[in-house]
Amino acid sequence: MKISRWLLAGAATLGLGSALAMYWQGRVPPEIVAARALGAELAQKGREGVPACISCHGTQGEGNAAAGFPRLAGLDAGYLARQLRDYGREAPLTGAHFDKIARDYSKTPRINLPYSTLTPGLRHDAIMSPIAKALKADEVDALAQYYAAQAFVAVPLAGDPETLERGEDLALRGKPEYGVPGCFACHGQNGVGVGAVFPALTGQPPQYVIEQLNRWQAGSRDNDENGLMRSVAEWMTEGDKHAIAAYLANQSYRSDAQ
Ligand code: HEC
Ligand code: HEC
Repeated sequence: MKISRWLLAGAATLGLGSALAMYWQGRVPPEIVAARALGAELAQKGREGVPACISCHGTQGEGNAAAGFPRLAGLDAGYLARQLRDYGREAPLTGAHFDKIARDYSKTPRINLPYSTLTPGLRHDAIMSPIAKALKADEVDALAQYYAAQAFVAVPLAGDPETLERGEDLALRGKPEYGVPGCFACHGQNGVGVGAVFPALTGQPPQYVIEQLNRWQAGSRDNDENGLMRSVAEWMTEGDKHAIAAYLANQSYRSDAQ
């Protein structure tokens, strides 16, 4: 008797919950619904001149840990769109332009600040840049809306305790001796990301995380707000990069479809 009353109450709550969910889904503006549909089509099938994104980024946008292809599912739409625009942009031909000097900061801590560049906003990649260049502006937005709305479940990868401990230290405390804040200070608690500026890190393949840090150190990724990420990456040793990548990949995390 008692149990069935609880069951009824439970069922009523569930019913209310799904009714609310349907209500909220119904609130997604029609232009976003249309954008997601176009994004889904492109992601799954591609078109003439644009390969299907799923062939590298996984059927659900979950990424490919073995190949080091990043997760796209559940990342912020504004972040995704900006990355695609940055990949697709050419370096301006006019105005002052200083090429970055490639330096390897991994061996010794640096003393001098690096020279800055007057052409921010570039992120070149041999695979992604041609794909991004082929996309029209509305397709960029559609793909960003589609992937941002996808559910994501991280599959935690095992790591050795000592490496994970060092990784956690970097995530939470950073390198106070060099004035470098912990990763989660900017990337949000547990690295789940904050808005369009600070992307989610949890669930990104270790190889991808290390590669991005290497590119910042070498100056070949240069599209971060106010050079925030570059100034963090500069202080990271090879050991730091491996430890934080292992720690991020070891986290459990899920985000629901929107
Ligand atoms: C042939 C494989 C391949 C295909 C196809 C591909 N990508 Fe990528 N994508 C990559 C690789 C590799 C990277 C990482 C490049 C780097 O290090 O900057 C990447 C990075 C990205 C990023 C940056 C992610 C981040 O966290 O900053 C976005 C966004 C992206 N791809 C979107 C797309 C979309 C949208 C499509 C389909 C139109 C697509 N990609 C098709 C291989 C691919
Ligand atoms: C001061 C703020 C700040 C801190 C601290 C910080 N980051 Fe970032 N990070 C950023 C910003 C901003 C971006 C976005 C760059 C862009 O717009 O392309 C970023 C992007 C990244 C990316 C690229 C993600 C992707 O999907 O391509 C990686 C990897 C990353 N950060 C790793 C780290 C690690 C590891 C730490 C800690 C050691 C850290 N970050 C600490 C600001 C920060």
